[in-house]
Amino acid sequence: MRTLELGVFMPVGTNGFLMSTTAPRYQPTFALERSIAALAEEAGFDFLFSMGKWMGFGGRSGFWEQTIEPVVMSAALAGVTNRIKLFATINPLLFHPVVAAKMIATIDEISGGRFGVNIVTGNTLEELEQMGVVPEGYESFRYEYADEWLTVVKQLWTQQRLTHDGRFFQLTNCVCDPKPIQKPYPPIISAGLSDEGLRFGAKHSNYQFVGARPEKVDHVKAFAAEEGRDLKVSANMLIVAGSSDQAAHDRFERLLDGRDNEAFDNLIASFERDNRDSSEGRTSFLRNPRMIGFGTGAPIIGSYDTIAEQLAQVATDAKFDAIQLTFIDFIDDLKDFGRQIYPGLKARLARHDIRLGQDVAASARAAEHA
Ligand SMILES: Cc1cc2nc3c(=O)[nH]c(=O)nc-3n(C[C@H](O)[C@H](O)[C@H](O)COP(=O)(O)O)c2cc1C
Repeated sequence: MRTLELGVFMPVGTNGFLMSTTAPRYQPTFALERSIAALAEEAGFDFLFSMGKWMGFGGRSGFWEQTIEPVVMSAALAGVTNRIKLFATINPLLFHPVVAAKMIATIDEISGGRFGVNIVTGNTLEELEQMGVVPEGYESFRYEYADEWLTVVKQLWTQQRLTHDGRFFQLTNCVCDPKPIQKPYPPIISAGLSDEGLRFGAKHSNYQFVGARPEKVDHVKAFAAEEGRDLKVSANMLIVAGSSDQAAHDRFERLLDGRDNEAFDNLIASFERDNRDSSEGRTSFLRNPRMIGFGTGAPIIGSYDTIAEQLAQVATDAKFDAIQLTFIDFIDDLKDFGRQIYPGLKARLARHDIRLGQDVAASARAAEHA
């Protein structure tokens, strides 16, 4: 029996993940995020994932010109949610490991053991350079830096005192209490797509996010096996639902009518400037004229039944352990997902012996109380 977890990629940047002037326009306020969290919890989702972004990409849609800070936002969401897991992004370059270890332990306690962290080395170098925090040659050692940082953080969570004399960090008999309530520590998430990034995830993570790239599932699982580990692999998908297949396709075409080519070009230029191993794959994805956003993953377009069928197929064929969803309208589409798609998805997955994460968690809670 396999389990499929469902997540919401929280729209913590202006207009969510869509670069289109015909998409709904909104600012990432806490009022919006709290409403989405409540709907996701009610609909049976397993986690909310918040990215960390420090610059936008402009264009007519003003893509990500405003982004709220995900760790602070998750701490606030912890107080107004009950059971859903909260994943927030941290870039090691921006937080001293002792500060981060304590912040994460604090939110783990606030949330009653529901917090996890996505450790990134920076989507683009540009957004870190503007802060003047990038060490000389960082591109060549960014995952080494993250590896040492995370190793230190994990040791701070599991040891009484830590003395560490490394390449990047020196700690002397350092104390960091209280420890997180999840043992040995909260879940670690990775979203690197280069081989180095995937190896970092294989070594450290509980979840690896790979966007819409099914071919990476076996790839990262093979790296994890070399480390004697296993991890869950998560996909990203954009739900474009309608009352019929035609209505959904019309909705998608309307989004394409307002495609913000300038914002796409700005994002592509930023990736090209970095010229990483992962850049080519990411820019060719964005150059596809039918791609309408960034972070959205692959669009799944159709009636509620078609979407349930296609999601079940993706989960079955590509062996994803989790699917993180984005929506055109995070309020109305999330309501529709809970009412119209979730039950059909659950029934279809059951035929393939796959259960939804919430049902597995509810059975575990019931067994605990029996
Ligand atoms: C689902 C997903 C979420 C991501 N979230 C962030 C983020 O919040 N902040 C960030 O700087 N990078 C984020 N990234 C970018 C990755 O951390 C990574 O830089 C990118 O996949 C390129 O891989 P590489 O760094 O291994 O070259 C995300 C990537 C994916 C697929």
